[in-house]
Amino acid sequence: MKVLGFESSCDETGVALIEFEMQGAPRLLAQALHSQIVMHQAYGGVVPELASRDHIRRVVPLTREVMAVSRCSLQDVDCIAYTRGPGLAGALLVAAGAAQALAFALGKPSLAVHHLEGHLLSPFLSTDPPQFPFVALLVSGGHTQLMRVSDVGQYELLGETIDDAAGEAFDKSAKLMGLPYPGGPHLARLAQNGDPAAFALPRPLIHSGKPDFSFAGLKTAVLTQIRKLGDNIEPQVLADVAASTQAAIVEVLVKKSLLALKLTGLNRLVVAGGVGANAMLREQLNSACLRRDVRVHYPELDLCTDNGAMIAMAAAMRLQRGIGQTSREGSFDVLPRWNLADISSR
Ligand code: KG4
Ligand code: ZN
Repeated sequence: MKVLGFESSCDETGVALIEFEMQGAPRLLAQALHSQIVMHQAYGGVVPELASRDHIRRVVPLTREVMAVSRCSLQDVDCIAYTRGPGLAGALLVAAGAAQALAFALGKPSLAVHHLEGHLLSPFLSTDPPQFPFVALLVSGGHTQLMRVSDVGQYELLGETIDDAAGEAFDKSAKLMGLPYPGGPHLARLAQNGDPAAFALPRPLIHSGKPDFSFAGLKTAVLTQIRKLGDNIEPQVLADVAASTQAAIVEVLVKKSLLALKLTGLNRLVVAGGVGANAMLREQLNSACLRRDVRVHYPELDLCTDNGAMIAMAAAMRLQRGIGQTSREGSFDVLPRWNLADISSR
């Protein structure tokens, strides 16, 4: 069976083709991605209307590219998957509309996928896939959650952020430091030359005893620190601020992940979402988990941020288990706000 996946929930247009049998690991045949980062950089963040228009421009050429690279024809595709939410409404409509139109034209079923389920299952495309059950740390631009994952579609929310997401904390702090959008990778690069102990920044909720997060206070502390330093901050001092900010975010993420593992008694951790690409987070989680005999799994670096492969993969894994609710109706909607725990089959 072959499933074609479409993603357009934010500022990346992704298309991918995955092949699978009812047993065994699905295989990625081809994927194509267009990132709008350069376009949005001029505005310091994602402009929803521009995002939607650009998705429209990209979706057909990217689909052609995937079909050409995989040497498959659209007639070979058995199911068309797309991100139904959460995300920007106008942006989501592009992948959903393209998928439904294609499904209708080909006479094939469509399958709506939850964006975060895509992130969560993306490590199954890596060379070292996890096994169920596991604790998942979902850290993206819009979400920071710890989940207990028993199987595909069985998600229990253990805790989440009460305000900003970890990616937002990276992005907003980076903006205060004058770094381009999206700030996470830029801040991480700047932090490489900085001293993580130079500034004592808060680790919000670190002692709450629950796997919950809060990052809004950290951003305010970074703002106060930068104001205190004045207009012309020395490059080394700015690198120190970046390193201290990254250290605060990473420490909280590591501590809370360990707490979630302890509370569930599980010994496998999956890290997914854009912030999962952060080298310091990987390093610290790896060493903390090694000490506790916990296995950590990550998606391949290029599959940490949004992509079509994770959407096709989530669809394939659902179809393998007979829990993929396909549709031949032709009508569709998108869900800009949609809790992952709500789709749990348990
Ligand atoms: O999962 P994703 O591509 O989009 C959402 O669904 O939100 O995540 C994007 C987020 C952004 O906040 C970005 O700054 C952050 O992931 N990010 C990073 C790194 N690479 C991406 N944050 C810290 N370090 C990185 N290396
Ligand atoms: Zn995402």
